[in-house]
Amino acid sequence: MTTGNDQKATLSYGDQKIELPVVVGTEDEHAIDISKLRLESGLITLDPGYGSTGSCSSSITFIDGEKGILRYRGYPIEQLAKKSTFLEVAWLLIHGELPKADQLADFTSKVTHHTMLHEDFGRFFNALPKSAHPMPVCAAAIAALATFYQEPETDQKVEETIIRLIAKMPTIAAYSYKHSLGQPNMYPSNNLDYSSNFLHMMFGTPCDDYEVNPVVAKALDMLLILHADHEQNCSTSTVRMVGSSRANLFASISSGISALWGSLHGGANQKVIEMLEAIAQEHGSADKFLQRAKDRDDTTRLMGFGHRVYKNHDPRATILKGACGDVINSLGGSSQLLEIAMRLEEIALNDDYFIERNLYPNVDFYSGVIYQAIGFPVNMFTVIFAMGRLPGWMAQWREMRADPAFRIGRPRQVYTGATERAYE
Ligand code: ACO
Repeated sequence: MTTGNDQKATLSYGDQKIELPVVVGTEDEHAIDISKLRLESGLITLDPGYGSTGSCSSSITFIDGEKGILRYRGYPIEQLAKKSTFLEVAWLLIHGELPKADQLADFTSKVTHHTMLHEDFGRFFNALPKSAHPMPVCAAAIAALATFYQEPETDQKVEETIIRLIAKMPTIAAYSYKHSLGQPNMYPSNNLDYSSNFLHMMFGTPCDDYEVNPVVAKALDMLLILHADHEQNCSTSTVRMVGSSRANLFASISSGISALWGSLHGGANQKVIEMLEAIAQEHGSADKFLQRAKDRDDTTRLMGFGHRVYKNHDPRATILKGACGDVINSLGGSSQLLEIAMRLEEIALNDDYFIERNLYPNVDFYSGVIYQAIGFPVNMFTVIFAMGRLPGWMAQWREMRADPAFRIGRPRQVYTGATERAYE
């Protein structure tokens, strides 16, 4: 990030002329630095939904929404999805570089050996209703980990917490599912890689020898990579905001999971499948559904479409669309929902309403089709998104805490309520 004397913006307001520095990122993104604006002029800016507000500078993820570009630490998402593994990408996001072979081996070994939950944690799951949605269960469980590992936050302890969270998140996610079924939990297996172990804990039982399908494990690993970071979205900004009060990593991540749950954010993947199933029940009537999505008097939206940043194809959706067929074919499942999704996409991309508003499929449009083909229940979809996003949240949290410009997050407001009045 650079600043220079020749790069200034001037704001005129009444008699005031305020000079504001302009900062430039490594991809030539220009931003007016207004951090001293109130101090110098008494003015604040107003930007509901933060569409024009940069909350931080960051070197983790780059998105060019107009061109449909996504890169983690400079590496294009297409290359990482094809060549990397989730744990390698997690390291990359957190440490800034791809790990050397010995670093990856050490990291993998540590994650593998921290997957178990304290036996007392069983009481936590038993206290919750079996009908609970796994998202609040996971959010609560991650927050509860802070009661088992209350430690001062030295750099070394933060590293340990990062390992613990990556290691235990799949165990927590799988236990929340097993709890809802009333089935015994499956202990993690140290002989399996990260994604295979999650499949083993989800679908294995003590009564059978569940064999992980390597095609499925690879597809899941790629899904996790695609979700691993997405710069300052709603849940990541939440993690940064909570962490900015010096709340610990467990509390910050738990808040991020809660933010992700909403249907306009990560919860959309569940809503997409529900939408596709509803269309299938109506004998595939995609047109009728799209009419409702376009009607301003109807709150229906085409779930999995549109994005605050992407005004072009979301590259993650393009990768997933390509992977859907392979996974479904290898599992021998039905492609009815995929066919409906592709038909919806085709109609929407040729419809003036969606063209005028630059609405394209986002990551959630096709991810649910793959999750469903694998056999995940719909209410686990967003939990898997959270598993994938975890390293990104932690990389962002750590970057924020190490930033010399780090201050508690505290936006201002324009007050529009009653002026002073007497209590009589
Ligand atoms: N279906 C129908 N219309 C839509 C959709 C959609 N999916 N998305 C946006 N629009 C319309 C809006 O009605 C609005 O129309 P108008 O200008 O006539 O009022 C216009 O497009 C702009 O929409 P906004 O809501 O202002 O866009 P914003 O950037 O605030 O919202 C969001 C982005 C929340 C993702 C939105 O596109 C949406 O609700 N999509 C469906 C939910 C979804 O898929 N969420 C997942 C996002 S990806 C992620 O978080 C992982």
